[in-house]
Amino acid sequence: MNAPPPAGSTLRPVRIAGTGAYAPAHVLTNRDLEKIVTTTDQWIVERTGMRERRIAAENEAASDLGAEAARRALADAGMAATDVQLLLAATITPDYPFPNTGCIIQSKIGARHAFCMGLEAACSGFVYAVETARHFIATGTVENALVVGTEKMSSILDWTDRTTCVLFGDGAGAAVLRPAKRGRGVVASALGSDGSLSDLLLIPAGGSRRPTSEATVAAREHYLRMNGREVFKHAVTHMVRSARTALHRAGVVISDVRWIIPHQANMRIIRAVAERLGVPLERFVINVERYGNTSGASVAIALDEAARDGRIRDGDLVLMLVFGGGFTWGAMLLEWEKGS
Ligand code: ACO
Repeated sequence: MNAPPPAGSTLRPVRIAGTGAYAPAHVLTNRDLEKIVTTTDQWIVERTGMRERRIAAENEAASDLGAEAARRALADAGMAATDVQLLLAATITPDYPFPNTGCIIQSKIGARHAFCMGLEAACSGFVYAVETARHFIATGTVENALVVGTEKMSSILDWTDRTTCVLFGDGAGAAVLRPAKRGRGVVASALGSDGSLSDLLLIPAGGSRRPTSEATVAAREHYLRMNGREVFKHAVTHMVRSARTALHRAGVVISDVRWIIPHQANMRIIRAVAERLGVPLERFVINVERYGNTSGASVAIALDEAARDGRIRDGDLVLMLVFGGGFTWGAMLLEWEKGS
């Protein structure tokens, strides 16, 4: 786990000053999936809580989804694209192995004065990216950052594998980060990883270890593979543990937190986390039934929805909880302060 800044630190507080999200128009329902693989609406609803997910068009890449979410976040923050100083895109479905998707989004939205990076932390990507970007602002290196979580998960799913293809969807979320004015902004965070478990959730081929070949494609090794049961156990354990660490670092207790925004991987995971933290589900932001698991976009989309519909208000403590391939996990506690 990462350590908090030392006492007397001169880091300045950083807030989320605007959010945006974009989901492609095409809706794929559980009934539609019944026609693709041997599954049922009942199995998917009971085991995951998902009812539908969005699927990007063939000509829509992760950067297209991300660019739209980014435009909406900039509009929400009242900021021009040309004012963005750092653009950080979290994705496991980049347009290309390189250049990074941040650069592609930069060119689409006209953020020509930004320096741009990609970050890969699977479903934890958005929180990892916010944590990274906020340090550039906290240290005074930049005055603002645009963080985008965007995924075209449909492009890495094996549509013959019912154990994975029913679980994921496409979408993007974005946030504009700026120095906090009144409140504390990001109050505390607790990130962690365990690379020894990387083979439980991965794409086996297509990287430098096993470059794409006719053999890897024939074996369908360029698609996502997951040991769902193992991932489930670790997800609950680490989301709960990192939540407790972040709360401890912030010097608050769970009842002080107004909203918990968990990674939308599975309703049963969210329920188990709620039970262990002793928080009623009503204080969780949940949209897994409409989007499925959108990996690095998931928490960003949920945050945007709750901020826009008025659930999250100025002064609220908001706890984001994530878990994903790597394994990677984390918690981030925010004191909400929108305003421009
Ligand atoms: N439809 C019907 N039956 C199915 C389906 C399906 N879509 N998928 C699996 N089954 C069957 C299995 O074959 C198995 O049958 P069997 O008992 O005859 O062998 C049975 O259902 C139970 O399978 P389990 O894998 O034990 O089901 P489980 O209750 O564990 O649910 C699930 C599976 C939904 C994947 C769950 O384990 C899960 O959500 N895991 C966590 C996923 C997650 O958190 N991912 C986040 C990270 S993703 C990222 O970072 C990119």
